[in-house]
Amino acid sequence: MAAKIEVKKLGGPLGAEVGGFDPCKPLDAANVKAINDAFLDHLVLRFRDMPMTTVQLRDFSARFGVLRPHVAKNYRDAAVPEVVIMTNQDAQGNYDKVGAERGVGWHVDGTYLQESPKATMLHAVALPDRGGNTAFANMYMAYDTLPEALKRRAEGKLAVHRLRGRKHHTQGIVGGDDLQKMGTVIHPVIRQHPETGRKALFINPHHTLNIIGLSQSESDEFIDEVCAWGARPEFQWEQQWQVGDTIMWENRCAWHSGRDDYPKNQLRKFFRTSLFEFGAAAAA
Ligand SMILES: [Fe+2]
Repeated sequence: MAAKIEVKKLGGPLGAEVGGFDPCKPLDAANVKAINDAFLDHLVLRFRDMPMTTVQLRDFSARFGVLRPHVAKNYRDAAVPEVVIMTNQDAQGNYDKVGAERGVGWHVDGTYLQESPKATMLHAVALPDRGGNTAFANMYMAYDTLPEALKRRAEGKLAVHRLRGRKHHTQGIVGGDDLQKMGTVIHPVIRQHPETGRKALFINPHHTLNIIGLSQSESDEFIDEVCAWGARPEFQWEQQWQVGDTIMWENRCAWHSGRDDYPKNQLRKFFRTSLFEFGAAAAA
């Protein structure tokens, strides 16, 4: 008998827990649609206590989008390149500052790509005994409540994005020639969601570089003002991780940020996939 998908809202401005199915077994089309509908309604889904291997996460993720290997080659899983290993320790068990700090601070994944990923899945494999939550913020709500004067300034504006944005020259997960090869791309500051039709704030605190038609100082002021609005606490919900949790989050209408407040001598490790829209052109 087919699984019966259960969706329970988590009580914040975004987020729902989805159960009643096994992600490691084949899902029929009706259940894939039920999960995707819940994703469009709640922006962030949690699948609790469903341990997966890298292969199982890849196959489950592929039901909801096209998978592509991440631009950061060093952290790809050797056997399953569509899966990134997110970890705070290197192969020798030493603290890896670059790996540990990726994902800390509000951002959206991959907007330095012309076709940026619709969603990300993150699966908890090992966790420290405290801290290290991931926070999410609802960018439909940020747009809907944007003060009128700021909304008028934001409408119609186009933003330039590149990896690490205004901090392009700082150390990160991509460096050297690979970083040099990555150019800039343009996205609207207010973006219509391709599936729901709703408008969302689409500025990216990490990867937005400047606004077309504004000087760098005017851009900085505008970006900082819009980002401060997007970071208001009333738009947020926070995931407290358990091993075996998988979170599927929106990159078209939500921000996320990892918290860097856990004991650094303890392993924190996740498997991650990036999901692109079906039928869209190949990434730049
Ligand atoms: Fe991220």
